[in-house]
Amino acid sequence: MNRGIRTSLLATILVAAGTSLQARTSECLNVPDSVTLLAYAQDNGESGLHLAWSRDSARWFSVADGYEYLKSDFGSWGRGKKMFAPRLMQEQGSGKWHCIWRATASGQVMAHASSDDLLTWGAQSYFEPGGEKTYLPVHTCRTGQLEATVEGKACQGWAQRVPYSLIENLVRYADHKRLRQSLHDEQTAQDGTRFAGLKPLTATLTVDTTQTKAISNHLIGIFFEDINYAADGGLYAELVQNRDFEYSPRDGSREKWDSGYAWTVREGEHTAAPAIGTEQPLHPNNPHYAILQVNTPGTSLENSGYDGIALKQGARYDFSCRARTAPGNRGGKATVSLRTPEGRLLASARISITADEWKQLRATLTPSEDATRAVLCITPNEPGSYHFDLVSLFPRDTFKGRKNGLRADLAQVLADLHPRFVRFPGGCVAHGDGIDNIYDWKGSIGPLEARKPLRNLWGYHQTRGLGYHEYFLFCEDIGAEPLPVVAAGVPCQNSGTCSHHADSELGCNGQQGGIPQEEMPAYIQDVLDLIEYANGDARKTVWGRKRAEAGHPKPFGLKYIGIGNEDLITTVFEERFTQIYRAVRERYPEITVIGTVGPFYEGTDYIEGWKLATRLGVPMVDEHYYVQPGWFIHNQDFYDRYDRSKPQVYLGEYAAHLPGRPSNLEVALAEALYLTAVERNADVVRIASYAPLLAKEGHTQWRPDLIYFDNTSIRLTPSYYTQQLFGRHAGDLYLPSSLSTDSKRADANKRIGASVVRRQDTGELFVKLVNLLPVSVSTTVESLPLQGTPAEVAATVLTGKPDDTDAKPQPTTASMDNGRLQCELPPYSFTVVSIKP
Ligand code: AHR
Repeated sequence: MNRGIRTSLLATILVAAGTSLQARTSECLNVPDSVTLLAYAQDNGESGLHLAWSRDSARWFSVADGYEYLKSDFGSWGRGKKMFAPRLMQEQGSGKWHCIWRATASGQVMAHASSDDLLTWGAQSYFEPGGEKTYLPVHTCRTGQLEATVEGKACQGWAQRVPYSLIENLVRYADHKRLRQSLHDEQTAQDGTRFAGLKPLTATLTVDTTQTKAISNHLIGIFFEDINYAADGGLYAELVQNRDFEYSPRDGSREKWDSGYAWTVREGEHTAAPAIGTEQPLHPNNPHYAILQVNTPGTSLENSGYDGIALKQGARYDFSCRARTAPGNRGGKATVSLRTPEGRLLASARISITADEWKQLRATLTPSEDATRAVLCITPNEPGSYHFDLVSLFPRDTFKGRKNGLRADLAQVLADLHPRFVRFPGGCVAHGDGIDNIYDWKGSIGPLEARKPLRNLWGYHQTRGLGYHEYFLFCEDIGAEPLPVVAAGVPCQNSGTCSHHADSELGCNGQQGGIPQEEMPAYIQDVLDLIEYANGDARKTVWGRKRAEAGHPKPFGLKYIGIGNEDLITTVFEERFTQIYRAVRERYPEITVIGTVGPFYEGTDYIEGWKLATRLGVPMVDEHYYVQPGWFIHNQDFYDRYDRSKPQVYLGEYAAHLPGRPSNLEVALAEALYLTAVERNADVVRIASYAPLLAKEGHTQWRPDLIYFDNTSIRLTPSYYTQQLFGRHAGDLYLPSSLSTDSKRADANKRIGASVVRRQDTGELFVKLVNLLPVSVSTTVESLPLQGTPAEVAATVLTGKPDDTDAKPQPTTASMDNGRLQCELPPYSFTVVSIKP
């Protein structure tokens, strides 16, 4: 049928449908002022649910200029999530709205969601065609399919009659969202105009010592995820890349990731990738090893590290490898050396490879000069065939001198934040890209050769040499509580890799139906075993004994466990979360379980996640939001409304994002401003962690991050200092205060934040003052609870231009005058005053 004929036919149907809709919908709708509502999406699936309305079914108006009232959440990140041919219908009687759509182009995956008002939608469900029967009500108001032209664009959708007041409500909602968005988009770049003519302000902060409240003194912690090469090539001090020859083409997409990655065999002028063997491997979890055939003297196996190996003159480096001679070979001595890329010798040592079974060989190397891009070489002296695996080089000087330890300088800057807890192993890494990529903690412990390498969903490889045991040790070393997060039986909702169960698109994207129910008991047991590994008796429990075998008989004293990471709240999630949660509560009632409420501060997952957690009585939930600085400015009351009888909050991932994602002073000050409000609410927000933490230059998948580094240097961002100033000046008692200024401008006053806390064991008072204005604020703090003259008043300020990326805290002046604290807040600054009694 040609398009012209089809359109006119549809137009006829439309008129007929319009009449019949009007007639039939009187059962659903009994108001005179009704119009036809059309629901549609872009043909290519790239939009969410659009709505249009018409009185006469001839001229159509877009509702709120194309606002998307519902978005599909099935599929991999961003554009992977699609909505085709949404069918919107209203249930007779209840008036509930239901929407069914195709979530993939092929139609193999269908989706359903429902709503009372078309504004807030319930959990989405995904199923194969036919499955919609479960979700659809028996009686719906009459709908008709039609084609229309909306704002000059042809579209096809489903229509029904509705009162015009519904359209008004929809428009009002979209307008409200857009207004909020325009506030959130506010940036300091507009301050020249926004605050033109604003003079320096005078402010008084009056402290109320009669209404103090206990708050968490564990508020500031760190979020560790192996993203941006944070672990291998980052915090984990191993210098050899792909030490176990287990890189695989599945690990990364842009380069040739395989067993030979970062390795070269050099024979004279000739270089080649190493041959790889799999016969009688070192361990079944480590099936690949290198075979080095030496025919010519000087033939060597070389590793280029992570962007080269950085060395310090005179420092000691521990080399070790597993090696054997190939059957029928005699072997002999070999030289292990560190060289510049041009071949200049920096350090060397001897090992002896004479056995035809795997042996661990060790040597110490001490470079004669500093180097940034050194190469590790193993050069057998005798001709023959050799096998190598688990080739490793660690600086002796790891953090706290631990074997298999952490890079000392990086670990130190983390410790310097004074974090009260460490969340690990992620983030998305915890729940993984598909069911088969869920982070199995058991695969990350035990002897290194027995650890299971894992594809990292950020596009590289995890050796998991830095595994659960090492995370626990690090927490112990820095006096922070460990906070492991395990998957809630579902992988990341943005998964795009097929599970081994997959027989259709349903098992290849999104939550993939979760871990099959028949496998859930084993999965739940793994979670219980994790708690036993951390806390179990070393003599009486299986997993406590394994911890002791790993060198730590004493329990790690685990208090928290996170279940789920910003998951899509679906029935699949709810079932599995509930099963895991109940099992943990029953077996370990003393552990604080942390649930999850989606990736945003609002929306379906936030609402449904909160409902589920409240219903189950989950002690704490994990909230995530990456938002513009303007969001932080205009939502400082976010937690003031929280019901204190409901679960407590772990603000597990947050950061201020500006366009271009810089790590500058503006975002750091927006975070500081918001943290003064979080501290005010630290009776309900118990713990909080900025995310992500670490990023290796040249290997960064996500910006901004708190700390940037390469092999030899570390760059701390202004946001790092915001975290540090809060971490170092934590209190356990909150002293309410009210701020008044000589400005009547609400937008100016909103940009000044204050928080006063006391550390009850030492009696110290900490006053935090944030000024996100282009003018200074001369501040007096009154009614501080002082007993006599303080022994010490010390102030620190973080200030500069909003786009500064290298602002650092500096000492500043603050004086006491008759019991009043006086300090001048420079434009764009964060000041902390610490008062010792
Ligand atoms: O922090 C980076 C990522 O952001 C985390 O892995 C994930 O939880 C969130 O989407």
